[in-house]
Amino acid sequence: METFIRFIDIWKAFGPKRIYDGLNLDIVRGETITIIGGSGTGKSVLLKLLIGLLTPNRGKIFFDGREVTGSRESDLRAVRQRIAMLFQSAALFDSLSVGDNVAYPILERDPKVARGELKVRVAEKLALVDLAGSEQLKPAELSGGMRKRVGLARALAMEPDVILYDEPTTGLDPINTMRVNQLIVALNEKLHVTSIVVTHDMESAYYVSDRIAMLAHRQIVAVGTVREIRESTNPDVQRFIRGGA
Ligand SMILES: Nc1ncnc2c1ncn2[C@@H]1O[C@H](COP(=O)(O)OP(=O)(O)OP(=O)(O)O)[C@@H](O)[C@H]1O
Ligand SMILES: [Mg+2]
Repeated sequence: METFIRFIDIWKAFGPKRIYDGLNLDIVRGETITIIGGSGTGKSVLLKLLIGLLTPNRGKIFFDGREVTGSRESDLRAVRQRIAMLFQSAALFDSLSVGDNVAYPILERDPKVARGELKVRVAEKLALVDLAGSEQLKPAELSGGMRKRVGLARALAMEPDVILYDEPTTGLDPINTMRVNQLIVALNEKLHVTSIVVTHDMESAYYVSDRIAMLAHRQIVAVGTVREIRESTNPDVQRFIRGGA
């Protein structure tokens, strides 16, 4: 088991507000790990630190053996090309069609890509999220669940090694929630990516995860397989998974 991403002794504060006091977490290549924890405990911040949108006050983050923290902007770009993030609000460009939304990151990276190849790649990504043939639709015509999946197709367009999912099922009905859960698992298996999921939803966490990590008291207080977390005697873990929120 190869450690792919490491957070080492991370300290982060926004002004007087402390978020992490020496957080440690190792993520293994190819796994799906879910970060759980109460609202405002710093789950989204952790994802933003990894892609260098935020920087820690102290500590180091390594991605595939390279230090992200303290990297120059040009090195960070290389890291960001390998990590796709599905943001909490799956923001699409409303004026662009679904197809053009998915094409966007491909064109950004490779403006000279042949039109035919672009079409094939867009179709392939849409098929991966069960939206084959929806190129011509406009975001306004989509349901919340479909928007999430288009956001995911767009994230996949850059052929990432890592996919970050921030609250992928929040606001979705049970059917769309299950669809997204199944997609997270299917993509992990098909594309051999490493997936980091942030969620409040324990059913989702149990369904998608190889391992679960719990954020509380400005630390990762527990990490383990689904079974280990369910059976954990850590009171923070028990309170959270029973509370379910
Ligand atoms: N750029 C920022 N500037 C100042 N404070 C921030 C910034 N980003 C996050 N915070 C604060 O850091 C804390 C952790 O934020 P974060 O968004 O990671 O929480 P979260 O665990 O993802 O919560 P939620 O479950 O509500 O999404 C919050 O109190 C938030 O207000
Ligand atoms: Mg968040």
